[in-house]
Amino acid sequence: MEISAVNALTYEEFVELFGNVVEKSPIISAAIWSHRPFKDLTDIEAHITEFIHSLSDSGKEGLLRCHPDLAGRDLQSGTLTRESREEQSQAGMTALDSAEILLMHRLNSEYKERFGFPFIICARLNNKADIVRRLSERLKNDRAAERELAIEEVKKISSLRLHNIVLSGIQTKL
Ligand code: GUN
Repeated sequence: MEISAVNALTYEEFVELFGNVVEKSPIISAAIWSHRPFKDLTDIEAHITEFIHSLSDSGKEGLLRCHPDLAGRDLQSGTLTRESREEQSQAGMTALDSAEILLMHRLNSEYKERFGFPFIICARLNNKADIVRRLSERLKNDRAAERELAIEEVKKISSLRLHNIVLSGIQTKL
């Protein structure tokens, strides 16, 4: 998909296509649409980053809370977004044995208890072992450091989602 085609999208089309680039946060695509025309994908990404960085600490934490747990209830009940399901599957979260599921549940609960938001890591860039290791390690951080680390992971996830939409066949819908 050429950037000129992205720039030609109506507001509704733009939000339909990019609304889940940041998990369950279509307000971000709704906001950045006004910055058209975009120069390229890097430009779109810069506007997403600018929006996220402009949020207060509680706004950033709200954004983090829009994410489902890795190997959590939404995965078990089939209610993940398509993007999250694909990412979790790629990271091996859909192929855990029962002991691994229990371990993920215990670590996710401990993490949410400590920080008040779910553990987020760019699942496409990490395998099962990395995820368990990083989840255990990051539990030792303080809340402010963890909030910033999690926001950096959200930016990596959204960058990969954005590139996937523009460079793959998803655009044929429009
Ligand atoms: N990493 C990539 N996608 C996701 C997601 O949907 N949730 C969490 N917690 N981490 C992710």
